[in-house]
Amino acid sequence: MRLNGKSALVTGAGRGIGAAVAEAFAAEGAWVWVSDLDPNAPEGVAARIGKCARPLVLDVRQPDDWSAAEQAILAHSGRLDVLVNNAGITGLGASAAQDVETVTLDDWRAVLATNLEGVVLGCQMAIRAMRAGGAGSIINIASRSGHVGIPAAAAYAASKAAVLNHTRSVALYCAERDLNIRCNSISPAAILTPMWEPMLGDGPDREDRMAEFVADTPLRRFGEPAEVAALAVLLASEEARYMTGADVTLDGGLLAGTAARPEVAR
Ligand SMILES: NC(=O)c1ccc[n+]([C@@H]2O[C@H](COP(=O)([O-])OP(=O)(O)OC[C@H]3O[C@@H](n4cnc5c(N)ncnc54)[C@H](O)[C@@H]3O)[C@@H](O)[C@H]2O)c1
Repeated sequence: MRLNGKSALVTGAGRGIGAAVAEAFAAEGAWVWVSDLDPNAPEGVAARIGKCARPLVLDVRQPDDWSAAEQAILAHSGRLDVLVNNAGITGLGASAAQDVETVTLDDWRAVLATNLEGVVLGCQMAIRAMRAGGAGSIINIASRSGHVGIPAAAAYAASKAAVLNHTRSVALYCAERDLNIRCNSISPAAILTPMWEPMLGDGPDREDRMAEFVADTPLRRFGEPAEVAALAVLLASEEARYMTGADVTLDGGLLAGTAARPEVAR
């Protein structure tokens, strides 16, 4: 019960990593607000968690949605202790080109509106709400793509790089003011969630595609949403009280470097 009595808000929690974080928080004793843009998604996750979860519709791009969430949380719980800014999109749809040369300004802005502006608004709301409670932990879900260039998903990569740096700005801002609010980020890579479905498909070559995607990952497999959630629990808990402005990679070793060549015999 490492989060016993804490009040937590998770964005984009209708599925994938966000849903796993919400479930892990509740299992550690937190009261969890399961929020998502999709009005149908949070209900199922909150129902699965049980009586210590409540669904909330929150589009992270909308300042009014953040104000409404703040009011609902403070009215019900009287405090906000943890915010996980998890909602994110790649922009890689059926038609939208996301490469550096041809991405349109509208498509670029759409990715930044969710991935970066959503985080900026979330941090503002959290600082406001947590200041009253005298403590808090903000966890931003960045990405391995924020650490390296991704030519075919340029807006996504730029947005996640900005999230890494905004995390540091927020951490320093709060420390300068003795707010006792910590802000850290997690940089996952290749976590098997619905985000990957358009790239994996459900054809006979699915397994081959999966293997191909993780061929350069030293641990040679996809990560699980629960593995990201375990790290989020740590960052949300008092055990991480000396951590702020940090980024933790959770990528099967991908950012550690390139695989050894020639290959080590297995
Ligand atoms: N899965 C991975 O391999 C991976 C790797 C690195 C980083 N990430 C990051 O982790 C986070 C979660 O990814 P996931 O794989 O679980 O994605 P996902 O697509 O499975 O789930 C994302 C959720 O966010 C919601 N969402 C989208 N736009 C929103 C908005 N404007 N407001 C509120 N909710 C919104 C969606 O409805 C969905 O429920 C994202 O920020 C993503 O960039 C994922």
